[in-house]
Amino acid sequence: MNNIFLVGLMGVGKSTIGEELAANLGLKFMDTDAEIERMQKMSIQEIFQLYGESRFREMEHEFLLKLEAENSVISTGGGMACFHNNLPLMKELGSVVYLMMDNETLAKRLWVKRKSRPLISHSKSIEDLVRILAEQREKREVYYLGSDHVLDVSNKASCEIVSELKLLIKKLN
Ligand code: S3P
Repeated sequence: MNNIFLVGLMGVGKSTIGEELAANLGLKFMDTDAEIERMQKMSIQEIFQLYGESRFREMEHEFLLKLEAENSVISTGGGMACFHNNLPLMKELGSVVYLMMDNETLAKRLWVKRKSRPLISHSKSIEDLVRILAEQREKREVYYLGSDHVLDVSNKASCEIVSELKLLIKKLN
């Protein structure tokens, strides 16, 4: 299928990098959160408020089961790889790359955007956000690390990350 899935914690830059990588490789780009928002005609925040997280996880899984993408770069919501056996499914549909970034850098990037992320909108300070991210990492890294490749993106410019991803993808194919 030749798809490339980008997974990792929220705030790591999956969507920005994914879009840049797709443009660079001449592939299509898809963002799972944006697709689910479009299909449900509401924001992720509203989906969480109205239906709760577990229904959102089902929506993510259903989305993946129905996915017909080919030759696409697909940026996934931060939790997608960690629920409903989604990671093996993604690996069947393409190559999966885990974009990894340290908690402190992530927290700084996410602080101003926290209100639109239901799982961190309650954080009281950057320190509190670091703690929440550390807890999430603890639960999720076991899944992320099952990806086909891990790329440390801390302190790297997006053009550098895209170049490294291109090299990785060459090796994976
Ligand atoms: C989530 C991450 C979000 C979005 C939702 C849940 C998570 O996506 O899917 O708020 O569980 O980590 P981003 O990783 O694009 O922020």
